[in-house]
Amino acid sequence: MGLHRWLPRRLFWACFAFSVGLGPVSAQELGSPRAGHDFAMAICAECHWVSDEQFLIPDSDAPTFFDVADDPAVTATALRVFFGTSHQKMPNIMLSDDERDNVIAYILSLRKLQ
Ligand code: HEC
Repeated sequence: MGLHRWLPRRLFWACFAFSVGLGPVSAQELGSPRAGHDFAMAICAECHWVSDEQFLIPDSDAPTFFDVADDPAVTATALRVFFGTSHQKMPNIMLSDDERDNVIAYILSLRKLQ
């Protein structure tokens, strides 16, 4: 029935999505914004304003995640590079691939202008 015609197309799109795996669209599907939120609240909220659910007001000059998300230069790829390289003021927190993808998905989910 319909499935036979449907399956190859789906495989095609699956391969296509894989080959552009660093693009912003597929990267958003890679991580879980919800898990990224919980992770950020636990690890990043010490210095960053990461969520409206946050009680603690961070005492640092780190940008809020809302500001990060609204910067048009910030993409999934740019964030990957940021977490994959060493930065000057922010400590180099070691993230697993999953944690990194989740936190990236969360930051990008805060973007107001889609
Ligand atoms: C100990 C404090 C501290 C912690 C913890 C921390 N950050 Fe930062 N972060 C900073 C500071 C300070 C800056 C700004 C200076 C810089 O870019 O190095 C920054 C910058 C950033 C930027 C770049 C913003 C931009 O527009 O350039 C991102 C993205 C970021 N942090 C994400 C995270 C994530 C995700 C976590 C949790 C895994 C985290 N940070 C934990 C202090 C911290």
